Amino acid sequence: MEKLIVKGGTRLEGTVPVSGCKNAVLPIAVAAAILSDSVSVLHNVPNLTDVATLRAVLEELGATTKLKDTMLYIEPVNHIAYEAPYDLVRKMRASIYVLGPLVAKLGRAKVSFPGGCAIGPRPIDLHIQGLESLGAQVQVEKGYIFAQAERLVGTEMYLMGQHGPSVGATANVMMAATLAEGTTVIRGAAREPHISDLAQFLNAMGANIEGIGTSVLTIHGVKQLRGTEHNVISDDIEAGTFMVAAAITNGDVYVEGITPQQLPAVSEKLVEAGVELDWDDKGVRVTTPRQLKAVDVNTVPFPGFPTDMQAQMMGLLCLASGTSVITENVHTDRFIHAAELNRMGADLMLDGRKVVINGVSHLSGAPVMASDLRAGAVLVAAGMAAAGETVVSRVYHIDRGYEAIEKKLNSIGADIIRVNDDGEDL
Ligand code: EPZ
Repeated sequence: MEKLIVKGGTRLEGTVPVSGCKNAVLPIAVAAAILSDSVSVLHNVPNLTDVATLRAVLEELGATTKLKDTMLYIEPVNHIAYEAPYDLVRKMRASIYVLGPLVAKLGRAKVSFPGGCAIGPRPIDLHIQGLESLGAQVQVEKGYIFAQAERLVGTEMYLMGQHGPSVGATANVMMAATLAEGTTVIRGAAREPHISDLAQFLNAMGANIEGIGTSVLTIHGVKQLRGTEHNVISDDIEAGTFMVAAAITNGDVYVEGITPQQLPAVSEKLVEAGVELDWDDKGVRVTTPRQLKAVDVNTVPFPGFPTDMQAQMMGLLCLASGTSVITENVHTDRFIHAAELNRMGADLMLDGRKVVINGVSHLSGAPVMASDLRAGAVLVAAGMAAAGETVVSRVYHIDRGYEAIEKKLNSIGADIIRVNDDGEDL
């Protein structure tokens, strides 16, 4: 397995571009391949292993896809198969997005039950609840979800779990409702920027969705959806990760292709911690003129502080002066990176859903292991700030959500090399 060798003591300087949003392009590509009757072309598509995995799922279902640079061409076919197999779904939870669209388009779906991962059990009860509300019959057996419906019928529903709105369930049910008979109202809908981008794409295909960006989505069913062209929004979490990387290395970095509206809570927390953000209409300049201050962080659904930025913020606060507390309210088990940061000399104490962070003066490079894509990103960022060398293993986690992370960071002053198990440069 590949590793990243990160040389410490580097200061990031320069301009880094943000790629297209992973969590937007995944459901949008599903909608284009399954719900549409004609070709779609997506622009600003990031070159990620998750995108490659999803293309394999869609081609397994009978669609044709071609990726050229950041342009993804998607041609749906009428005889779409209706089964998403285990060996693909197990690689990427987002494959569950095909469930609702297949039932809406074909009247049936067979999707392998997605596994849990390093951040928690990842249930799909809200996905099933939402589709059953639309009239689908759903049963789970032998590790597969079987769903079918003569015709989905719009209804009002409340789609909120004990941890708040569900991004995935909102996407799944909203996509299915576009072809349902009558009107569907989803209360407690997720409001993440990637849900709004998906809704905009569906409307561009001929859907009729109101309330985009709010927690109440009203979807008036239509007979058919046609292909369209769409620019995928930029990735707020990749942008936030680069902002933290600039701050943790005391750098001076312009993060290009992001707006403050995409990550309001992250911007506010960084400023509260002493990071200087200078926004213009194309991006933000990040500088850290003085010692960072301890801050408390609560992860909550958008527009609050995103769980996908929790690990990165933890890394930054390891070097703040004072004691910070991070509370993870969205996922049930997303602190594996804390133990890895402690190996680098951080002073973190886990307490249930909270991590208490006592700031230290410096971190030291060490061999560490990525457990999910955001945990991997924080280990790279911490490695750049640490004294000495950090070797990050299980880099495949990082490649799922970051496009050539070492190339982008090296272009602004990092010193990171990718090696295979035998230590050969790649
Ligand atoms: C999406 O996952 C993202 N993935 C995750 O990003 C992100 O952490 C998460 O939303 C929250 O923002 C993609 O978009 C591909 P949820 P998703 O349904 O849809 C519970 C990353 O780093 N829940 O919003 O799976 C669930 O257990 C990844 O890019 C139910 O209880 O998340 C969690 O506690 C990691 N029942 C909470 O809701 C359900 O049916 C939020 O989950 C579904 C979810």
